[in-house]
Amino acid sequence: MATDCLRELISLMSNQHSIRGGDELRFMEYQTDKSLLPYNTFGIDVKAAAFAEYRSVGELCALLEEYAVRFRGKPLLHIGSGSNLLFLGDYDGVVLRSQIRGVQVLSDDGEEVLVRVGAGEEHDWWVEHASRQGWHGLENLSLIPGQVGASAVQNIGAYGVEACDVIDSVEGISLETGVAARWSNSECGYSYRHSIFKDALKGKYAITHVLYRLHRTFVPRLGYGGLSKIMSYKGIDPAKATAMQVRDVIADVRRKKLPDPSERGNAGSFFMNPIVDECKFGLLREANPDMPYYAHGEGMYKVPAGWLIEQCGWKGRSLGRASVYERQALILVNDGGATGREVLELCEAVRSDVRGRFGIDLVPEVNVIAGDKGI
Ligand code: EPU
Repeated sequence: MATDCLRELISLMSNQHSIRGGDELRFMEYQTDKSLLPYNTFGIDVKAAAFAEYRSVGELCALLEEYAVRFRGKPLLHIGSGSNLLFLGDYDGVVLRSQIRGVQVLSDDGEEVLVRVGAGEEHDWWVEHASRQGWHGLENLSLIPGQVGASAVQNIGAYGVEACDVIDSVEGISLETGVAARWSNSECGYSYRHSIFKDALKGKYAITHVLYRLHRTFVPRLGYGGLSKIMSYKGIDPAKATAMQVRDVIADVRRKKLPDPSERGNAGSFFMNPIVDECKFGLLREANPDMPYYAHGEGMYKVPAGWLIEQCGWKGRSLGRASVYERQALILVNDGGATGREVLELCEAVRSDVRGRFGIDLVPEVNVIAGDKGI
């Protein structure tokens, strides 16, 4: 653990390209009995037994060493901006959060730029920064909440682009040993809303940096979700759209369709869109000729969960203090003061109806945290 910390310190001291601060080695302290209300966009009022934020790999290692001595046996949960979490109760464990910042250009040949970004940066700040620098590829992922590190874990996606399309590699630290690791894009095991960090390596590493391979030439990708039409409607020729125009249009669409967590707690899409095989797809289309869908690789189809939920009559309906959002049925919202269990009850009621009517088991995209361990 000490060797990795020392290496990071040397790397920080020799880094000439970092444009954001917060890199000095500072030891952070655990806060006990800490409210997690500001750290989950669902607005669930729960507490963690202990909580700490860190600004460098060195600080993370120090916190992990202290954790091993002081909180032995307690579970450890690493969070980002809490935009994909549902806490069912107080967390009787230790919560860590990254504040590792900074953007370093590692190489730039005039066409392709390799950039290393601190996992604690807000993803949308980074998308805007990259677009302004003329580093392209991230525009369609505008206004997605969450941190850069979490975006690489979740493989966030929107409007035909996924984070894995532009991620070169990911760096992390083992939560058990403090040893540094690096995964190439292919080693990350990316697929739709999935990575090795949600699977074999779940809960084992803190992502510290994400490396992106971006392009200086901007090629608008407007083939999804009627973006092209919206552009034309706004008087912009889709073929000549600039990166900032694409970013603005997508931000606009998202603001109209998605609830603002500061007004109504939510975690974006609550469920993943189910992927079905040709046989199941054929049966679904036969019974529902109007069902929207996307081809998803050979013989597979992605079906919008929002559409399935709406067909079951859940759009805009409530259960307790939680509702299915009236403008996008894929999103569950906290109507004010809902507990995590109320949201989960709504989730299960929706799943049960979709299963009953379509024979499809919706899988939550949101991580449900049950007191002391994820389920
Ligand atoms: N639809 C309905 N009723 C609804 C919602 C959607 O009929 O209540 C239909 C729409 O009319 C459309 C289709 O379902 O034909 C797809 O809807 P939409 O374009 O809104 O996208 P989505 O599949 O529901 C996914 C992502 C979103 C992302 C959008 C746009 C997932 C789980 N969600 O949603 O990501 O913004 O595509 O690319 O893949 C997020 O992950 O938090 C998120 C918002």
